[in-house]
Amino acid sequence: MYKKITKEIIERLEKIVGKENVIIDSERMVDYSHDEFSDAKMARMPELVVKPKTTDEVSLIMRLANEEMFPVTPRGGATGLCGGCVPTSGGIVLSLENMNKIIEVDLNNQMAVCEPGVTLMDFYSAVEEAGLFFPPHPGEESAMIGGVIATNAGGARAVKYGVIRNYVRGLEIVLPTGSLIHLGGKLMKSSTGYNLLNLIIGSEGTLGIITKATIQLMPSSEVVRYLIIPYSDLADAIETVPFLIRKKILPLAVEFVPMEVIQITEEFLKKKWPCSQGETHLLIILDASCSDEIDRFSEAVAEICMEKGALDVFVADSPEKQKQILDIRSKIYEVLKPNVVEVLDIAVPRGEIAKHVGKVNEVSQKYNIWLPTYGHAADGNVHTHIMKARLEDGRIAPVPEEEWREKSEKVREELYQDCKSRGGVISGEHGIGIVKKHYLSYVLEEEQLHLMSGIKHLFDPKNILNPNKIVD
Ligand code: LAC
Ligand code: ZN
Repeated sequence: MYKKITKEIIERLEKIVGKENVIIDSERMVDYSHDEFSDAKMARMPELVVKPKTTDEVSLIMRLANEEMFPVTPRGGATGLCGGCVPTSGGIVLSLENMNKIIEVDLNNQMAVCEPGVTLMDFYSAVEEAGLFFPPHPGEESAMIGGVIATNAGGARAVKYGVIRNYVRGLEIVLPTGSLIHLGGKLMKSSTGYNLLNLIIGSEGTLGIITKATIQLMPSSEVVRYLIIPYSDLADAIETVPFLIRKKILPLAVEFVPMEVIQITEEFLKKKWPCSQGETHLLIILDASCSDEIDRFSEAVAEICMEKGALDVFVADSPEKQKQILDIRSKIYEVLKPNVVEVLDIAVPRGEIAKHVGKVNEVSQKYNIWLPTYGHAADGNVHTHIMKARLEDGRIAPVPEEEWREKSEKVREELYQDCKSRGGVISGEHGIGIVKKHYLSYVLEEEQLHLMSGIKHLFDPKNILNPNKIVD
């Protein structure tokens, strides 16, 4: 159905982006064959990698792809966890890494305009330098803005300020046909027709290529405090969360992490978590406009947590300590990854999370499988890791492949059914890609899937832009 990349196509692509921005060498292309999903068998080699520098170049590439019928897979920092940027049908990988300029930080409108290849790390520094704040922290800071928007990433700091979707105000998009559209702008409001901007956010590069983004920023918080709260019982830790919210305390983040996972990550990174007591920890990040206010918030949090069974409350005020904590928290997946079959990303209503995690424990015992689970407690977003290893006396021991393959299926099935019964979804922030596509019908009605396929067809009638992802 697709045309192979011929010598002539390569020459035409070289003309568009310059020879130095085309990769043909297969060794160098290996890096472009996968994302951070754990199963190496999911990787697929592209026939070619191109690295445009401008929107015009992206547009010309899409025009050529249309004319010649070859698939194009857009790619940012490739930190995704569902194979969203894997070139499953070959063709070209269109890497946006060279489009990495922050065009402006507009202080009057409190918005940044940037290209898709800007890394989160560079984005945070530019925003901070301007005295502003970009709340979402999806974890891996080598992720690029385009990819973060394409998956509607969330991360730890979403409780008070929300996920990426809440911040994207404008997008420049190259459509699969090569034409250009501009959605939204430096606007705080818009009720002007169907919201195509929100349709593109989270569409995983299947409807169009993001070539520019306008992102809303916030005033920076005066004071930030991290609280680490150990519990001897996971259920107590998680059950604390609704009480915090009911007392009108809205933290930036409420994370739960089992101690065994913290220890493995600490050891790997050679960094120190503030305490090693208990079985499960809550990490609560608070911000406020002055130190009195943050003292009041922290006292209220501490009181509620102690009432609900916490063993102690540790405070981290210095930016260095806070960075260590955020680093350890953000790197857990990377550390577990070599032994992970799949990281799940179930999101349930906040009030259901304790019961869902209870189900995870039940399933873990039933199948005798290690399912380390942590997540964004106040967002109802749970990361259960289906493992191909067991923890024996603190050491990681491999499990035979037939065993983990068979068990993984059953675990997935039971947890997705539990998710569905609680009104949840199979992805809160990672997206669907290829990995979770098969399970979409568990939580979405047939009619919704039908509408989604129709939308894909309308945007991309020849099915050349990131085919095989989300829906067919
Ligand atoms: C995290 C990633 C796995 O929360 O979403 O660490
Ligand atoms: Zn997460």
